[in-house]
Amino acid sequence: MFKTLATWWLLLSVLLAGACSASDISIIPKPQKIEVGEDSYRLDAHTGIVAPDEARSREIASFLRDALHEQTGIVLTRRASAHDITLKIDSSVHGDEAYRLEVTQQHVTISAATDKGLFWGVQTLRQLLPLGKSTSLQIPAVRIEDAPAFAYRGFMLDVGRHFYPVAFIEKQLDLLSYYKINVFHWHLTDDQGWRIQIKRYPKLTDVGAWRTEADGSRYGGFYTQAQIRDVVAYARRRNITVIPEIEMPGHSMAALAAYPELSCTGKPLAVPTTWGVFKDIDCVGDAGTFTFLQNVLDEVIPLFPASYVHIGGDEVPKDRWHDCASCQQLMHAQGLKDEEGLQSYFIQRIQHYLAGKGKTLMGWDEILEGGADRNAIIEIWRGEVEGRKALASGNRIINAGPFYLDSPTAGLGVKKIYATDPRQGYADAPTGLFLGAEAPLWSERATPLNAESKLYPRMLAFAEITWNDGPRDYADFERRLQAQYLVLDARGVNYGAEDQDLATFHLAPGPHGGWLLQATSGLPGLVFHYSTDGSDPTQDSPEFTDTLAIQHAGTLQVTPFRHGRAMDLPTRFTTIDNLAAGKPITYAQPPSPHYSGAANTLDDGLLGSDNFHDGQWVGWEGGDLDASIDLQQPTRLHGIAVDFMQQSGSWVLLPKQVTFYVSSDGQHWSQLYARTLKVDAGDARPLVQRIEFSSPVPISARYVRVKAENYGPLPSDSAGAGHNAWLFTDEIMLH
Ligand code: ACM
Ligand code: ZN
Repeated sequence: MFKTLATWWLLLSVLLAGACSASDISIIPKPQKIEVGEDSYRLDAHTGIVAPDEARSREIASFLRDALHEQTGIVLTRRASAHDITLKIDSSVHGDEAYRLEVTQQHVTISAATDKGLFWGVQTLRQLLPLGKSTSLQIPAVRIEDAPAFAYRGFMLDVGRHFYPVAFIEKQLDLLSYYKINVFHWHLTDDQGWRIQIKRYPKLTDVGAWRTEADGSRYGGFYTQAQIRDVVAYARRRNITVIPEIEMPGHSMAALAAYPELSCTGKPLAVPTTWGVFKDIDCVGDAGTFTFLQNVLDEVIPLFPASYVHIGGDEVPKDRWHDCASCQQLMHAQGLKDEEGLQSYFIQRIQHYLAGKGKTLMGWDEILEGGADRNAIIEIWRGEVEGRKALASGNRIINAGPFYLDSPTAGLGVKKIYATDPRQGYADAPTGLFLGAEAPLWSERATPLNAESKLYPRMLAFAEITWNDGPRDYADFERRLQAQYLVLDARGVNYGAEDQDLATFHLAPGPHGGWLLQATSGLPGLVFHYSTDGSDPTQDSPEFTDTLAIQHAGTLQVTPFRHGRAMDLPTRFTTIDNLAAGKPITYAQPPSPHYSGAANTLDDGLLGSDNFHDGQWVGWEGGDLDASIDLQQPTRLHGIAVDFMQQSGSWVLLPKQVTFYVSSDGQHWSQLYARTLKVDAGDARPLVQRIEFSSPVPISARYVRVKAENYGPLPSDSAGAGHNAWLFTDEIMLH
């Protein structure tokens, strides 16, 4: 009896005092040490902010004033009072980014030895504010002592493959800073786009920032130097350092399209519209390459106060250097054993140049190949072997490999990131060599429309584990994450699911003809809007939540929406009426077990997308397609058509020869049609070619057979030289 009363009394007093317990506080990343007091501090328009009389401290105070206004609607007075929020530089708080936050009934005090610490204290204070607008509010009494586990807590955005406007980037910087991420690695150049204005080389953006897509449209964009300065300043005010990445000597097709004289062949090149690794790279044997790159760096360096400049250095095929007279001459003159030595020469020369400007070179782990100077900072993406190699040679490292946010959430969810130790594999790294971790978003399939669903909520788990390396408690993290969704919603963030893909689709022939599309949502509240006229679905297009029956063949496009906003790019399906639908197919040679599809993939009435992994493509590695369909009764046919894919970068080539046959008994075949194809194995553009036969008069047949002869060994000048080509088809169409 007494206990019950006591419990009620406690509950009542908590309600009356508006006090908090640790379980009401949902700070991410979790502070190192937090004590929750009994009472609370009342904040209203009479509260003042007191800060040291120094430029950055005043700026932080002003940031806090603006943030309080935006979050709560309260406009603070500028007059000091007895109940102020005080920002204090205090050398007794140890650590470059460390802070102490004390909230009592009387005061709010943020103390830190540096302005960085002061700012993080402000960000924590913001996370203690109740949501919603009011004229006064209570901040729970707490004493927090906090400091990050790792000095480098980065996010990388690839703006080369897709362009992201400044407003998008600033929105992310606001959010990242809220969760104490302190580095924005801006991947500014890649094969498919050069995105930073360089005044001395206007063609880098006139030509290199734009590409002509397969449908003839122009795609692109770039940042002016003024915009770059604005973003860097915006980030600095939020405690974020911006590190530029200018890719060299590979991933530089956009630059070579603008200035082809920088390549080994000097031949004209187009800004590519497809993804992958391209053989044309900066010519290391031409002194003009270094003049160009140094001039570019001379314009980049003043824009970025960061002490690091990232030069990429990843995925550099050496074919062109191998075939280039001036590159070979340089190799011999320098006494280098091979082209890896040239890569090392290239990187060290750029590193030396940067060092002369007071900058430290950062690069992907390939820059270790052939040996890198130990001052270089190595960003590890391929794995622990590279990381350990870098540490063994005394280089500082940043671990990015486990945090690639372009990978599907189903494989790399919040739970998995939360469970990852950023130092995994490097626990014994010598002091000072393990700097921290970075989460990159590569943008082949990410645009401003769907990027947030890839970034959030995963970035919050990443922020937590790079700030706090204490014991893990997933239930507690999950509880705090739930509270953060309200913050993300208030900021209009299109976050995705935690551990599943946003949407997965399964399209199959329906039991009574037509097709059934089954959609699985990874996030509550998704609705799917679809179109059948080839247009992108909008909020006004018809919708469904899990199953859609379609009767008529054609193009179907489906987009998940939430809160009235498109969450992803449309997924496209193409269905056709096929007389062979569902009839048994036999193969003379079995397809590759990795691309064998289902029993009726080649006559299910579904065409493949441009992705041969989509389950609709059946593939043979080196082998031929030789498929027979039993229509089970004599059938009148007007034509036969088959699609074949070419994606030479993935070793997928069109067949050399295609032949169609018919038979009444499945034993004796008459040839209807044969066609020899002229295959250009060097054409890197992805394409699907339809081989089609139509008969002026209907043909009666019970059996149809399609043969297609594999291209065979890949040409000697291709990346896959010596291997057999892949042959891919998605449907045998009879009408
Ligand atoms: C990389 O993912 N190519 C660094
Ligand atoms: Zn060359």
